[in-house]
Amino acid sequence: MGIKYFDEEGIFKLDTRNTSYVIGIADEEKFLGHVYYGRRLEEHRMGYLLRLGEPPFVPSKNKGDRISFMDSFPMEYPAQGVGDYREAALKVRTEGGHRACLPVYMSHEIFKGKKKIPGLPTSFGEESECSTLEITCRDALLNLTVVLSYSVFEEQDVITRHTVVGNDGQEKLYLENVSSMSLDMDNREFEALTLHGSWARERHKQRRKLGIGYQGTSSGRGESGHQNHPFMALMAAGCTQEHGEIYGVQMMYSGNFDIRTEVSQFNSVRWQAGIGTRDFCWVLVPGEKFYAPEALLTFSAEGIDGMTANYHGFIRKHVLRGKYKDKKRPILINNWEATYFEFNTEKLLNIAKQAAELGIEMLVMDDGWFGKRNLDNCSLGDWTVNEEKLPGGLSHLVEEVNKLGMKFGIWFEPEMVSPDSDLYRAHPDWAIAVPGREAGMARTQYVLDFSREEVVDCIWKQMEAVLKSANVEYVKWDMNRPLSDLGSSGLPAEKQGELAHRYMLGVYELQERLVSNFPDLLLENCSGGGARYDAGMLYYSPQIWCSDDTDAVERLAIQEGTAMIYPLSTMGAHVSDCPNHAVGRITPFETRGYVALAGTFGYELDVTRIPKEDREMIPEQVALYHKYNDLVREGDYYRLESAQDNHLFDCWQVVSKDKKESMVTWIQVLGGASRHSRNLRLKGLAPDKYYRIENEDVVLRGDSLMYAGICMPVMSGDFKGKILHLVEE
Ligand code: DGJ
Repeated sequence: MGIKYFDEEGIFKLDTRNTSYVIGIADEEKFLGHVYYGRRLEEHRMGYLLRLGEPPFVPSKNKGDRISFMDSFPMEYPAQGVGDYREAALKVRTEGGHRACLPVYMSHEIFKGKKKIPGLPTSFGEESECSTLEITCRDALLNLTVVLSYSVFEEQDVITRHTVVGNDGQEKLYLENVSSMSLDMDNREFEALTLHGSWARERHKQRRKLGIGYQGTSSGRGESGHQNHPFMALMAAGCTQEHGEIYGVQMMYSGNFDIRTEVSQFNSVRWQAGIGTRDFCWVLVPGEKFYAPEALLTFSAEGIDGMTANYHGFIRKHVLRGKYKDKKRPILINNWEATYFEFNTEKLLNIAKQAAELGIEMLVMDDGWFGKRNLDNCSLGDWTVNEEKLPGGLSHLVEEVNKLGMKFGIWFEPEMVSPDSDLYRAHPDWAIAVPGREAGMARTQYVLDFSREEVVDCIWKQMEAVLKSANVEYVKWDMNRPLSDLGSSGLPAEKQGELAHRYMLGVYELQERLVSNFPDLLLENCSGGGARYDAGMLYYSPQIWCSDDTDAVERLAIQEGTAMIYPLSTMGAHVSDCPNHAVGRITPFETRGYVALAGTFGYELDVTRIPKEDREMIPEQVALYHKYNDLVREGDYYRLESAQDNHLFDCWQVVSKDKKESMVTWIQVLGGASRHSRNLRLKGLAPDKYYRIENEDVVLRGDSLMYAGICMPVMSGDFKGKILHLVEE
């Protein structure tokens, strides 16, 4: 078991294959202190790092300087108002309006396996794969218990953390922050690595050095968002892509989040991740518990590549679920960029017929099939088939598609309502809004109040009826606007601060119903492209639409950022038509294929109308997908070059677990400016194995390929690509 408690020293030691995490119980008051997190250590006697012997000593020895102690002690889960002026992980207000709180160690439990967090996506593992430490702390005056939960996944070097706060008293408590994790460490000239963007520009990486004071990334949009991402890594001085120490945290949560650092007067870093505190206040009534979402923590001494490997391994095994978790996904063709709202059964069947002949396996009907929707200004909430567009209904269309040997998938946007819809006309109070204030619209739509059970039930019944009416094998779940005007007509005044989180609980509830009632369904999440791409959503859908920007060049940065923490098998990526609808760029069809092959692979175009040469290339691309997808889904991913950094070329590699096979994708962004062949050093191969580079008739040893590299010649023209396939000789 990866967790040990050393009674004599009051030390908890959590070990994974390559890391150790140490917590200590300090002083008579039993403060819980953070001792160490980093490379694996064999020794546990490290309580000296809590500095209890140094002035100002601990309060039991020097009560007169209690505040100085509080303001420097590395508290494992700091609360507010008792002299620690750094950011508090726990902020509680009492009925009397006070905010002081100090939970101290009370008891603990260690067990094999891991519990599910009620209502929230939770990573999971067998008893042989993980073990859990639950430390219960208590503030006696407030009758408040805080359970700090740590699950240790030894193989993946991941420790998951979450917090449960309980009210054992007679009075209400108002929770203003409940972080999922807090970590105090000495600042080793950390740089924060985060992911940011906008619509059609998701998850571009950013690095910035930590300065004194606060830095962070957050969302208050009710979704994890295009703009900021629920992830942060701290890179110690000297850390690079391949080398050095890096800590990663990502939230397994899809709503508002805060991830922040605070560098203190003594150059220590307090690092916290959890639910977003903007607009948040949870009323904890006597006898109840609040469950904070899970944070996924990892450490690697092997740079960004090491962190990536840990997260990929972990998410593949302990987050993704369902039939398609480890399976090849059907190659789909989606009609959004092909037709937008202008389609009918005939048009869809024409696309499907051509697509089937070319080897495409599933037709996905996107937005516009329901109510009277011919534009994005009506009918959300009315999930009944528009028989004017689809004569004979959904079942007829699906039967015809199935006759072609293809599967069928459908689009929904379950969380939304159009003002011009029967649902809104019948239940205007089901939209999130503040009484008396006209709620702001985005894309001419409001957000449904998913904190209300009856709203979730109503949407569920409609979706269930559609899915039962035909052989639907895939659902694309979209969400095209953020939350605003937070107000729920189903919640009393003092609980309005719970809305954003309760909304997420409602979304999770509906997704859970969907995947448990339709276990064979392939669910793909989406949010105006990739605004809700997070480990929370991956618990329900094994793939997420990465971005509405399908341009092969723009996708390089988007997919680099995404693949930095999420497995390639989760990355929704399609070949689309040119000039690209988002940016107007023209790229070779071949290159668009190479870029999409890094993800789930599919098409987003009208196959009946694209140039003949492009159409003729589809069977080849389909064959490449079948050839490489096992490797892409199951192999180890490495980042070799980043066009985001060098502006010239991009390169990634996948190596099979047994190191017998590898695939290298090279994209030359600017031909003219490249001018010279590049030495490309591969990664992850067996140094002593010989590899044949397919079609190049070259055999080289793994060590030569990795340490000396191979020459990638300049190709003529911009946006050119190439795949190298290496097979053990
Ligand atoms: C946004 C999605 O990202 C697109 O793929 C498409 O489904 C549209 N919404 C439809 O409205």
